[in-house]
Amino acid sequence: MGAEGEPSPGRGLVATAPISVTTPQQLRQLTGSWARAGEVVGLVPTMGALHAGHLSLVDTARRDCDRVVVSIFVNPLQFAPDEDFQSYPRQLQTDLELLSAQGVDACFCPKTETLYPPGFASRVTVDAGGELWEAALRPGHFTGVATVVTKLFAATGPCRAYFGEKDAQQVAVVSRLAQDLDLGVQVRVCPTVRAPDGLALSSRNALLSPAGRRSALCLSQALREASGLFRTGVREGDQLARAAAQVISAEPGARLDYAGVVHPLDFRPVAVAGADARVLVAAGVDGVHLIDTALLGSPPLLRG
Ligand code: PAJ
Repeated sequence: MGAEGEPSPGRGLVATAPISVTTPQQLRQLTGSWARAGEVVGLVPTMGALHAGHLSLVDTARRDCDRVVVSIFVNPLQFAPDEDFQSYPRQLQTDLELLSAQGVDACFCPKTETLYPPGFASRVTVDAGGELWEAALRPGHFTGVATVVTKLFAATGPCRAYFGEKDAQQVAVVSRLAQDLDLGVQVRVCPTVRAPDGLALSSRNALLSPAGRRSALCLSQALREASGLFRTGVREGDQLARAAAQVISAEPGARLDYAGVVHPLDFRPVAVAGADARVLVAAGVDGVHLIDTALLGSPPLLRG
């Protein structure tokens, strides 16, 4: 453990490089020493290519916890063979610099073969949210997510872990997992950070062409369309979902994957929607998979 990792009175004010660890054993040793000193450890799991959305999770963790660990690992298990594992943006050096400025205590950046050595044969499967939406579109995806999150929780032993609302089904899966397996981790959900024009920040946005970036706006527009109709008194879930779908279908640069208006907990389509129903949308733009979501009663706001 380097001297830069020593706690100092100015921690949080003075930027210090996070301790970089690459194996679960090293991480467990480090976080174990913090836990024994009575410190609350927070974990922010990411796949890197960090943006302001990730940093808002880090910021919340920083305010909530004594120690913050950020993991950066592009998890092959959650990508299907025909998906974008190879082209997924990677910028580890830039990410580490960003995290230094955030007062993060440790960064866990394991190699694939460290987390999944030859002979690795275990999977964690969570039967939450049915086989709907992302689960239907990406078979095996949430098993990959649940498996890596279980490993990250085991290696970190966090008191709290921070996830973004943008991936609402992922939040449901991880919350179920933490509860069902008595992992002793509180799952905290942070609001979606957006560009001023409404586009939800995503590492995958870096893969969009300038025209694709403009087309991608149809996702947040679809959420606003459904919310706008809801405000005028429309309550039929089907009708609201169709309206969202139409916004995306009308965008020549986008291919609609799904649009739904769902119960906020079980993600089943609702016949009659209340303000707490969730709108879910997904589309392919430039061959890039984009998703967005908002509660019907709180559509994404435009700034500026
Ligand atoms: P990744 O896509 O890197 O996202 C890491 C975390 O940041 C997730 O909890 C995600 O919901 C959150 N996030 C992404 N964009 C956000 C935005 N615009 N505003 C707020 N939060 C945002 O999600 C994953 O990685 C992986 O599936 C992971 C959980 C790390 C498991 O591999």
